Amino acid sequence: MGPVVDALKHHGVWHALSSTTEPIALGTLAERYHAREGLLACVGRWFEILGWGGLSPQGLRLTATETFTANQGQSALNALIALAKLYDQGAAPRLALGCGMTEKIWGQALQPLAALGWVVEHPSGLALNEAGRAGMRMAAQSLYTAGYAPLLSQVRELFASDGEHSPGFDSSGDEWHVERDADITFSAAVYESQCQAAVCELVLKALQTAPETPQAIVDTGAGNGALLLGLHAALIEADITAPRLVAIEPSGPARRQCQVRLAPLGGLALAGNINDPDEMALTLKAHGIDMQNCLHINKSVMHNRSVIGQPAGLDDALVPFSCAVHLNQAFEQISAAQMAGDLVAAFERWRPWVQRHGLVMLEPHAIDPAVLGKDPESHPLLGTEITHVLSGQHLVEQGFHRRCAELAGLSAAVSLNLQQDLLGAPIMSADLWRAVAG
Ligand SMILES: C[S@@+](CC[C@H](N)C(=O)[O-])C[C@H]1O[C@@H](n2cnc3c(N)ncnc32)[C@H](O)[C@@H]1O
Repeated sequence: MGPVVDALKHHGVWHALSSTTEPIALGTLAERYHAREGLLACVGRWFEILGWGGLSPQGLRLTATETFTANQGQSALNALIALAKLYDQGAAPRLALGCGMTEKIWGQALQPLAALGWVVEHPSGLALNEAGRAGMRMAAQSLYTAGYAPLLSQVRELFASDGEHSPGFDSSGDEWHVERDADITFSAAVYESQCQAAVCELVLKALQTAPETPQAIVDTGAGNGALLLGLHAALIEADITAPRLVAIEPSGPARRQCQVRLAPLGGLALAGNINDPDEMALTLKAHGIDMQNCLHINKSVMHNRSVIGQPAGLDDALVPFSCAVHLNQAFEQISAAQMAGDLVAAFERWRPWVQRHGLVMLEPHAIDPAVLGKDPESHPLLGTEITHVLSGQHLVEQGFHRRCAELAGLSAAVSLNLQQDLLGAPIMSADLWRAVAG
């Protein structure tokens, strides 16, 4: 939240809100301080989660008087980046055990962790205290925030109503706003610890119930290929000959990692976008693969799709419950009905391609602010939500996501709810979707 508070202070919004106990209308704030109205609506949700105020029909209200300064926010971000490096370089597990020699080697790298209160200074150098050693066990989590460090250093610009710095891929598949290597390393760690079992269960079910073996298994938004490689190993263990493995990736760095890892298995890594399955079908065809004769998978990618312009909304009677704030790619607020319209259309574009073998889809979801706000330990999830919003990604609630799939003519053959233990409510869904006949 540090970079968001800094941006609100920079644009004068923070001062205006803290000078009154009354709510201020979003439109007034946006016009007076040249800030994006859609992002201010999200700030209302984040204030609510933190117990700092919130958004009502009258406007945005800030009740917290003491919060951290921008400098504290920057130090916390630097500490997370340092922690991510320790994890990435394999030092975190040994540091967690309190190994003196490891601390000597990594002494300088521990300096930024002082901002978290994790370090003690001995005459011989820096060492971790008990909190620091406990924190080392959560080091993998910091990879996520560290991956979005470029985005978090530009939040002032993102909040500006005339800001032109929108996140996205350039023509060579590079992005300014995310360190894709760190992001896919993190995603793969989450995948291996939390999702692999569910993916294997759903894929085995899909293979057992399909009319014939698919020509290929296609993972859209494949990251570093962890899902396909894990699946390959599981299929071999189950004595099943794995179909050809295909990774679809718009990100250049991710695609190159996939190509290197899949090539020894005869796999392929190709450019493509979850928004455009028809285009993917042409790319696959150029490699002799029939898109309809594939089992399709994606994990944590549907919310990466682009919501373009102001989508047409669904009929109100059909709109699933949502307390998320919905934005389009220009950070303009859209209604839940419009978000549902866009998501149903996205599922509809996939429907013709998944009739034969189905679609295995895993998605993280937006959580009710009342649930997130109850548990201060869950605030890392608030960080995840903030980076998703600022990078133009669209998390929706689990029920909302599944209802939109059904409205698009898909039906879940198997549905699993993942990561329930953290908040008592599932954070991820895992479904095997099949196209409803007709
Ligand atoms: C959160 S990571 C998930 C990676 C992998 N599926 C996993 O779970 O480990 C999102 C991945 O989707 C890719 N991606 C982003 N936007 C995409 C889009 N519009 N279509 C397809 N893939 C996209 C990113 O490059 C990244 O590799």
